[in-house]
Amino acid sequence: MSPSTTPPTALPVWLPGVGTLCYGGDYNPEQWPEEVWAHDAKLMREAGVNLVSVGIFSWGLLEPREGEFDFGWLDRVLDLLHDAGIRVDLGTPTASPPAWFFHAHPDARVVTRDGTTLGFGSRGMASPSSPDYRRASVAITRALARRYGSHPAVVLWHVHNEYGTPVSECYSEHSAHAFREWLQRRYRTLDALNSAWGTAFWGQHYGEWEHVSPPSAAPSVVNPTQRLDFARFTSDALLACFVAERDVIHAEAPGIPVTTNFMAGSCQSVDLWAWAQEVDLVSNDHYLTASDERNHVGLALSADLTRSIAGGRPWLLMEHSTSAVNWQPRNLAKTPGELARNSLAHLGRGADGILFFQWRASRSGAEKFHSAMLPHAGTGSRVWSEVCDLGRDLAALAEVRGTTVHADVAILWDWQSFWAQDLEWRPSVDLDHRERIDAFYDRLWQDKLTVDFAHPEHDLSRYRLVVAPASYLLTGRAAENLTRYVEAGGTLLVSYFSGAVDEDDAVPEGGYLAPLRSALGVGVEEFLPLREGARVHLAAAQAVRRAFDGVSADVWCEDLTLAGATPVALYADGPAAGKPAVTRHEHGAGTGWYVSTRLDVDALATLLAPVYEDAGLSPTTDLPPDLEIVTRRGATHRYVVAINHTGRPVEVPVPGTDLLTGEWSTSSFTVAAGAVRVVRSA
Ligand code: GAL
Repeated sequence: MSPSTTPPTALPVWLPGVGTLCYGGDYNPEQWPEEVWAHDAKLMREAGVNLVSVGIFSWGLLEPREGEFDFGWLDRVLDLLHDAGIRVDLGTPTASPPAWFFHAHPDARVVTRDGTTLGFGSRGMASPSSPDYRRASVAITRALARRYGSHPAVVLWHVHNEYGTPVSECYSEHSAHAFREWLQRRYRTLDALNSAWGTAFWGQHYGEWEHVSPPSAAPSVVNPTQRLDFARFTSDALLACFVAERDVIHAEAPGIPVTTNFMAGSCQSVDLWAWAQEVDLVSNDHYLTASDERNHVGLALSADLTRSIAGGRPWLLMEHSTSAVNWQPRNLAKTPGELARNSLAHLGRGADGILFFQWRASRSGAEKFHSAMLPHAGTGSRVWSEVCDLGRDLAALAEVRGTTVHADVAILWDWQSFWAQDLEWRPSVDLDHRERIDAFYDRLWQDKLTVDFAHPEHDLSRYRLVVAPASYLLTGRAAENLTRYVEAGGTLLVSYFSGAVDEDDAVPEGGYLAPLRSALGVGVEEFLPLREGARVHLAAAQAVRRAFDGVSADVWCEDLTLAGATPVALYADGPAAGKPAVTRHEHGAGTGWYVSTRLDVDALATLLAPVYEDAGLSPTTDLPPDLEIVTRRGATHRYVVAINHTGRPVEVPVPGTDLLTGEWSTSSFTVAAGAVRVVRSA
């Protein structure tokens, strides 16, 4: 990990001088004639916009030739916005280096794993390890920070754009060199590297550092630990680029927070637990998956993950869409009311600002079919009127800013484990870490239990229940942490194919799951993956667990060896017939549950019912599953956000005042189909 070089500064928790929720989007005025700008500012005010992100892709215009800057247009834009009372989140344009840069430094282009060098004409295509890219990106950042460091409109700096996309790994010569340096810092000796990578296998032993290279395409599967380390290196190399720009901004523009827009939950190539430590304020981009009919659950997951990496502090939704995007196979327009439901779901889960990509729809370029706050159809459109409605809603919700979200349940999330699990030659192609996380999350979401995400080495003591749906790679420290959590009274639920390897992607001594044996009281003798489409059935192992009778599962079974745990459900058929499928183990003051097969979201209800009981949790079962409820808590009030994703009105038993309509009730509110209530309660 690149060490942070900036001493902690006394930065405000929120944007300096901004006492309200933020509302706005990416603003790209350089795509429009100057006479449009004043009209933009007027319309922004009409919509309630108070924050826009400017200059994210403007490098080619701001520095038309190396070292020659043209800030005139940006001066005028910032002054105009300031005069209109609109704050600015100022971008550093380093996600899109200009043509002159690649012409002068062709070796700074990204090389893919199969050796293809990526060309100019798009965006996001410089190698993070190119010294020329580092020098040039720091130079434009310094020039911007010097010029605008004390501009009164600028309340936030937005470094780069979505690090890790559209490309993350780079296999250029610069990257190979930087990778070797990174490995030397990690392992110090070649012996240590040879041992960690298990190079005795397939004769991969290294005798010289110079012979070690990135895991480029090879005749067969490349050493998995080499690939895992390259993924770690990639995240660190990108983070070093961020830190270099951030440090320049901190020096030139003290007191203004610096962020970069994450893609929590969708971009897997950066380890956001580490990244979140380096930003002053967490911001996130989220786009719905149009093919998923219940994509509001994925939205909630992304928001909960963002809040978790932000350590529970307020965060900013930097980008989402007002309606359709343009980069999925079928780009569905949002239905009436969906824009508000999406935005307020993010707010309910801790966002204190709601921004969109982008303010005004582009007429040219790759994103002309992407929706915007001000669509091609103009101010007579449905989208524009919903944008203005949301501006009014956020103004009515001002007092929610700074309140927090409390969760009793944590789901473990570790990017490094995912990188390792997603490599080739795993026991079954049907093992999918994300599918398991989504399934457990969906179950908890439907049961209306708010979830934090946590790293397996984090302090977990505040949670009643910790769920590990996909902890394939488990470090010794993580296993000890989980064991201590159970000993101290926690309830831990672990799903299959966890604890399969250590941090070097090596099977632990004692076999699969061995590091969790004392917490779970069970070991895995052999993996028993199923054929595509095959199903197995469970049977209750105890009279009180009859609900398990007949529950079916697929994808995966395991041959379990009991080491103190009690079987709760057995396999009734399949390769492990008669053996335990689900186990429960009392350890210290707590309980460790293990499930060795794939239960779908409905079947997970059977598993979770007794787990909730152990954890002392009460799921909400008397409201429809797709009625979303989440609560923000302040010093004097709580704010219950109820979002009705169903087609029918639902009565929600919360007394208080609906801040969106001013209505009050001493007992409950009807939430109309597709509507949202934000109820201030005692
Ligand atoms: C984001 C990106 C934006 C815009 C948007 C379109 O990933 O940061 O610049 O391209 O996608 O949905």
